[in-house]
Amino acid sequence: MAERVIPLVDERMAVRTAVVPASTSAPSGELLDGLGRPLRDLRISVTDRCNFRCSYCMPKEVFDKNYRYLPHSDLLSFEEITRTARLFVRHGVRKIRLTGGEPLLRKNVENLVAQLAELRTPEGQPLDLTLTTNGSLLARKATALKAAGLKRATISLDGLDDAVFRSMNDVDFPVAEVLAGIEAAQAAGLSHIKVNMVVKRGTNEDQVLPMARHFRGTGVTLRFIEYMDVGVTNGWRMDEVLPSHELIERLRAELPLLPLAPTTAGETARRWGYADAQGRHDPGLGEIGVISSVTQAFCRDCNRARLSMEGRLYLCLFATEGWDLRSLLRSGANDEEVAAAVARIWRQRHDRYSELRASLPPSPDSSARRRIEMSYIGG
Ligand code: GTP
Ligand code: 5AD
Ligand code: SF4
Ligand code: SF4
Repeated sequence: MAERVIPLVDERMAVRTAVVPASTSAPSGELLDGLGRPLRDLRISVTDRCNFRCSYCMPKEVFDKNYRYLPHSDLLSFEEITRTARLFVRHGVRKIRLTGGEPLLRKNVENLVAQLAELRTPEGQPLDLTLTTNGSLLARKATALKAAGLKRATISLDGLDDAVFRSMNDVDFPVAEVLAGIEAAQAAGLSHIKVNMVVKRGTNEDQVLPMARHFRGTGVTLRFIEYMDVGVTNGWRMDEVLPSHELIERLRAELPLLPLAPTTAGETARRWGYADAQGRHDPGLGEIGVISSVTQAFCRDCNRARLSMEGRLYLCLFATEGWDLRSLLRSGANDEEVAAAVARIWRQRHDRYSELRASLPPSPDSSARRRIEMSYIGG
């Protein structure tokens, strides 16, 4: 069957039909894309809504009261999500991250966590199951999430200064409540808690050092993210990016840091450990990370696929089109058929947007106009 590209009324996203190949074979667990990259990490967005309006992600002018969010009937059910995730695990996925929007706004999300926590790798191991949240509801939900089987969590936090934070989330949300959420996550027994800070030059760069000092020695890993040109609504400019090498230089002028080896292939962050008086890494002081998607792209090992709340599969954070798995899931196709359709999609993947960015014409151009938004697909 020939593939079709169906243009949508909504300019945000083009959608492609997921096709079941004529002959199907059971997943081998080693699915490689067109550039030889395996499929290991599935990020599942469970809602397109968020209670924050960070200007780099959901600027108020665009995401106002007239913005049309998806109706509930368009969302994948928890059963559909779990079925899809199970097939991805058979293809080699070992890490699942729930994102949004703000995932904790999805009603009863802990029930989804419980279903995903039941999944096992072919070797019988549980998955690395985690979630990205803005932390606003974490104090209320941490215990239920942990009880449902969540292993760890990543909290987005762009500054410690209350005025800076309130202005960045643009809904006047106090920083103290997010800090309470992080503490609640620790108290509930979630491990490997990470804090992600998007750094914008001229906006919150003065928060870098206070954030590092605050989380040093707390068991929380702080990661600094270069502000990216993701989506089209944030009006991204290169001069607002603080390159990681510059950020590390600033930190090293104040705090003793040494580079650490990567823990897994395809990792987004470069790790730096705090050193003790002898200049050795002190695990008690912990580590930080820098995610340099703009100045040092990491597409070469990119093993991440993204499933949107309405069941579209995206092969890159900067994709301009998604593959419609929902229609396939609801068509009566059996698991082998859906798995084979996914394999076919992954095998033809060549995405490496961040690596190519340097040689692309400056956006906005016609392709940029249709790029997906981070609020739609999550980090
Ligand atoms: P851990 O498993 O906890 O290390 O998480 P992670 O770093 O794989 O994922 P996380 O969602 O915490 O990623 C942090 C940030 O890195 C995101 O918010 C994005 O800004 C950026 N990022 C994550 N994945 C990608 C990717 O595939 N491409 C690009 N360009 N940026 C990414
Ligand atoms: N650049 C970098 N990271 C971004 N995020 C959202 N928008 C951007 C952007 N323009 C990431 C942040 C946030 C998560 C939800 O998505 O890490 O914490
Ligand atoms: Fe919401 Fe996170 Fe986007 Fe901020 S970055 S608007 S908290 S989804
Ligand atoms: Fe992967 Fe696309 Fe990010 Fe490159 S830009 S690391 S291909 S998601």
